[in-house]
Amino acid sequence: MFDFRPHLGINQRGHLTMGGADLVELAEKFGTPLYVYDEQRIRERYREFRDAFASYGDVLICYACKANTSLAVLSILRDEGAGADIVSEGELYLALKAGIPAEKIIFTGNNKTDRELERAVEAGVIINLDSLHELERLIEIVEARKAEARVSFRVNPEVSPETHPHLATGLRESKFGIHEEAVLRAYERALACSYLDVAGIHMHIGSQITSTEPYVEATRRLFDIMGRLRRELGLELEFADLGGGVGIRYSAEQPYITPAQLAGALLPLIEEKLAEHSLPKPRLLLEPGRYIVGDAGVLLARVYTVKTTPYRKFAGCDAGFNLLLRPAMYGSHHEVVVANKAALPAEEEVTIAGNLCESGDLLAKHRRLPRIEKGDVLAILDAGAYGFVMSSQYNSRPRCAEVLVNRGMAELIRYAEDFKDLLEKQLVPERLR
Ligand code: LLP
Repeated sequence: MFDFRPHLGINQRGHLTMGGADLVELAEKFGTPLYVYDEQRIRERYREFRDAFASYGDVLICYACKANTSLAVLSILRDEGAGADIVSEGELYLALKAGIPAEKIIFTGNNKTDRELERAVEAGVIINLDSLHELERLIEIVEARKAEARVSFRVNPEVSPETHPHLATGLRESKFGIHEEAVLRAYERALACSYLDVAGIHMHIGSQITSTEPYVEATRRLFDIMGRLRRELGLELEFADLGGGVGIRYSAEQPYITPAQLAGALLPLIEEKLAEHSLPKPRLLLEPGRYIVGDAGVLLARVYTVKTTPYRKFAGCDAGFNLLLRPAMYGSHHEVVVANKAALPAEEEVTIAGNLCESGDLLAKHRRLPRIEKGDVLAILDAGAYGFVMSSQYNSRPRCAEVLVNRGMAELIRYAEDFKDLLEKQLVPERLR
């Protein structure tokens, strides 16, 4: 449990700790449910990724901020020198607010609105185009404004990583990216527009990927396309973006890869491909999200109801899929630790039920845990990525607070919502008052 999560531990009171902070104390101090993140763990994981690829030279890690857009988290990564992969005008707003420089931001998305394209041009971020149609729409915008834009294209490398079908994005049938047959046309068209600086190429094959093979296959295709662009259009690109997707270890049994293994598999291949196609060395962009913030976050929830049915025992807690959607949406596994009984042995099998009126609202099924009682604090691990960002107010439950731990010290980074937030932006027509 703790060998690959070195930021977690157990203190003398038998409580689970993260980054030196007692999680039971945090649950008492800030209330539950509560998201808690460990700053040093985020920094460590970012540096691990950066260092793994450092031997290549010119590398930019564009943190995929969709994984966790809390301003404090973005600020940590800005501080580390990261750029950002963004997918909406909202993420653009937040990344700039956190002080991430525009030239380090790449705007991906398969269906950007005109307004999003305009904002991206104004902000001066790299615009990663997903279709010929999007290119035509961007050309209209830059020509009308006589404004320049730096662009790349997302290609569809047609590989299938072994992951949850919802998390694979580089499949042949996927809605993402431009297929090879249309790529040359797209670049040719972009080159003909004098307002566009045609700078890069991009791929992203999926998420929670646990083997290097799909990356190798896709990277080979990407660099072969770069070869064709040089030969057929005389185009030498400044950057190649390999996307994100490196999985984390949600359990000890699950297969996994490390950034070092990924770099070990990709960097020699890239050198080989550059030589084969006589390409100048491009800057390498990488877009990890989950790897950087995933295991740095836990969701704390308190047990209220313990219920035994003829079929199983439930521990009902004060969080549900409104706060952590992954188990309900993808059947994802998140380890659960009873934070106030972290040193006690497992004694019984329990299913952790959320508090929403949906039978699918189970945060964890059939777990061996110490004997559960009312008041216990559950730590749902590895919730730092795609946790809070996918939350909702379903069942009129206001979203919870977020806390950042740094070397044992905890600070609030987001207030919990309250009932006034349930009214926020709502209007009742006069006749109904
Ligand atoms: N780049 C692009 C273009 C992406 O679409 C994504 C994730 C990433 C990078 C970062 O991928 P990561 O390194 O975090 O795997 N909600 C799902 C994950 C959806 C990922 C969407 N795109 C989940 O909870 O597992």
